[in-house]
Amino acid sequence: MSKLPPGTTSAVLTSMRVLRDPVGSMEKWKAKYGDPFFCNSLNGPIVMTGNPEGVAQIFRENPEHLKPFAMENASTYLGKGSILLSYGKKHRNDRKLMRPPFSGKRMNAYADSMARITRQVLSEVETGKPINMLETGHAISLWIILETVFGFHQRESVQPMKHLVRGMLENLHPSFMFATVLQNRFWPPWRRFSNYRQEYYSQILNKIETLRTETEMGEDILSLLMAATYDDGSRMSEDELTDQLNTLLIAGHETTAIAMAWAMYWILLNPAVFAKTKSEIDQLGPDPDPVAYTQLDYLSAVVKETLRIRPIITEMMRLLTTPMELLGYEVPAGHNVGFSISLLHFNPDVYEDPATFRPERFLETKYKPYEFIPFGGGHRHCLGSAFAEFELKIALGVLLSSAEWELLDPPDLPMVRRSITMAPKGGVRLIKKSQTETRQAGRD
Ligand code: HEM
Repeated sequence: MSKLPPGTTSAVLTSMRVLRDPVGSMEKWKAKYGDPFFCNSLNGPIVMTGNPEGVAQIFRENPEHLKPFAMENASTYLGKGSILLSYGKKHRNDRKLMRPPFSGKRMNAYADSMARITRQVLSEVETGKPINMLETGHAISLWIILETVFGFHQRESVQPMKHLVRGMLENLHPSFMFATVLQNRFWPPWRRFSNYRQEYYSQILNKIETLRTETEMGEDILSLLMAATYDDGSRMSEDELTDQLNTLLIAGHETTAIAMAWAMYWILLNPAVFAKTKSEIDQLGPDPDPVAYTQLDYLSAVVKETLRIRPIITEMMRLLTTPMELLGYEVPAGHNVGFSISLLHFNPDVYEDPATFRPERFLETKYKPYEFIPFGGGHRHCLGSAFAEFELKIALGVLLSSAEWELLDPPDLPMVRRSITMAPKGGVRLIKKSQTETRQAGRD
């Protein structure tokens, strides 16, 4: 068996190219070297695949043989206790404890908050003026996380947290995420990020303290996590809780906002998609129970197709602690195996005419867990996938049923890097032409 496939040699150039244009770079390397191919990166050597069989092999690999990629870099901004960084038994235990609050069954408890917050943000969008949908999506998804995950219900307590989170995320600069030496107070982006993070952490600790004194348990995810116990009866420590909350915020807020912006873009770009989506939503009648949006077939397919054609995280890697056979190659321990979400989602053997936005493909075909992977897969499959899809459908349902929109962007809006995510360049520019209904801020 050959040891490693052909691929890139310069770690610096490879990392720079992936930073600038991951989708184009992966396509280019696949065309040049085949699949899988080798990527020499500043964060270590990687054997990368976008082939469904290769992706399935990675998802099926024994979790005990896989560690998270580039751990040292990430621990300083995620927090050492983050689930994204744990592995082996600790990761298994963390997932067991954290999964129940994110299960599909729990989601109905958050539907009213999601709809009310979307309506509230929508009512503050000026009519007739261009807006940036990514910013609007951020406002919606951040508020939803602060209320449903962190338990901040009063607007007065949400506002300062929003400011801190925005400050922290806006300063989460790719430079220090890819080079640990820049995690240094002399590097201004890191200094700004650290200052915001310090204040944000102290707010979270205050919140945990307050919750401890409350007699009735809230519906929010923090309250559920505080009450949950590991198999040995112990609970998450304060440090672990703050690191996990930080992770949920970083992993869940920006990703969902980007997906919302892209979904509005694709719906408004395609008149036939718009007509079908709108007619399905309108059939629910005025002021439906928000859970009804989440059960709409076409809207669900629109959300999936959006995540397929514009993956927000374009590749994920795992560090091998034992050699692994991948598509006929033997990858040694200490190397990483990676799956390219974009290569797989644009693979014409899996998706016919992959460059076309066609939600119907999700109504016609049930894709396998290693064919449709916007949320990754295997033992690290995104913990918030049900939450994200639920929120996206409710937010889109409210946005499309309550207002008329015009898209200002052209048909070929490119993806650009924002920290670890890829987002629409310029953020999707829209105009709210009119608000068709002015509902009260919420049903509840
Ligand atoms: C459209 C929105 C989202 C996308 C595209 C997305 C995508 C991803 C991806 C690709 C991974 C890595 C999976 C892997 O390594 O195989 C991941 C992990 C994760 N995501 Fe999401 N995510 C989204 C929303 C959310 C939300 C809303 C939350 C929580 C509020 C969340 C929490 C997490 C967590 C905790 C992990 C780490 C899981 C682990 O390592 O065990 N995500 N997500």
